[in-house]
Amino acid sequence: MKDSEHLIRLAAVFAGGLLFFVVIRSFFVPSSFGLYGHYRADAIKDVAALQVVHAGHEACEGCHSDVADLKNKGKHAHVNCEACHGPQGQHANDPMSVKPPLPDPAKLCVTCHEANAAKPRSFPQIVAKDHAGDVACNTCHVPHNPRIGDAPAPAHSEVKK
Ligand code: HEC
Ligand code: HEC
Ligand code: HEC
Ligand code: HEC
Repeated sequence: MKDSEHLIRLAAVFAGGLLFFVVIRSFFVPSSFGLYGHYRADAIKDVAALQVVHAGHEACEGCHSDVADLKNKGKHAHVNCEACHGPQGQHANDPMSVKPPLPDPAKLCVTCHEANAAKPRSFPQIVAKDHAGDVACNTCHVPHNPRIGDAPAPAHSEVKK
């Protein structure tokens, strides 16, 4: 056992390395880690504290039943309010102080309908430049019931820039 000195030295290096790892780890692992499972238990509280930004279409329909009735008769029946209007939870909680901006059809409609080979063929698509030129989509289509003839003529029938 005369030559065991270098083995002890090697073991000491490993032991030192292990201690270093444990100390450093204790600085970086959050205190609530592992309380319920392999994650930070406080993350549940953090997520629960986030504000709900979407109200859900049922909420919108409760107050805007006229829009809902028109929409449910047309091709956009399954496109929900906040898909076009964006998250409106704050408006739904306090409609008088938070008024949602109206979406701009020139930007909105093409996000879903601009032709793209990656979309299913059965999905209605247009090449906006050829289909409408500079004329706003809602000059001809009613956003809440878009198929021409299915809904009363658009309210905004003057050509928008
Ligand atoms: C508690 C009733 C209520 C709920 C719920 C509600 N709204 Fe409203 N909304 C109103 C009222 C009232 C106004 C008119 C506010 C005004 O004129 O200042 C309004 C206005 C709007 C406008 C603007 C209309 C305009 O002419 O500028 C939009 C768009 C709208 N709401 C969309 C929504 C959407 C989308 C939802 C669901 C996320 C929703 N609302 C939920 C009551 C409600
Ligand atoms: C396909 C997109 C789309 C969907 C889905 C949609 N909206 Fe709209 N909405 C619009 C656009 C675009 C306008 C602006 C119309 C304009 O400026 O002529 C608008 C306008 C409105 C207005 C202003 C008054 C009016 O009738 O023009 C209200 C209120 C409104 N939407 C509520 C709703 C509610 C509630 C829902 C769900 C039941 C809904 N919208 C679903 C696109 C949509
Ligand atoms: C969030 C995606 C989305 C947005 C934004 C959207 N649409 Fe649609 N649109 C749809 C879906 C989904 C259908 C139903 C497709 C089907 O029946 O297969 C549809 C159907 C239509 C149709 C009927 C096509 C037909 O003849 O069957 C027209 C026209 C139309 N949309 C125009 C518009 C206009 C104009 C706007 C802007 C105001 C708009 N859409 C915004 C998703 C959208
Ligand atoms: C000058 C009037 C006019 C304007 C502006 C217009 N459309 Fe149309 N659109 C029509 C007519 C007419 C049809 C065929 C009848 C129908 O399906 O309602 C049509 C059909 C469609 C269809 C169905 C295509 C299909 O394959 O079934 C979509 C989607 C559509 N338009 C979206 C739009 C979008 C998005 C805009 C704005 C970029 C727009 N339209 C602007 C008149 C117009």
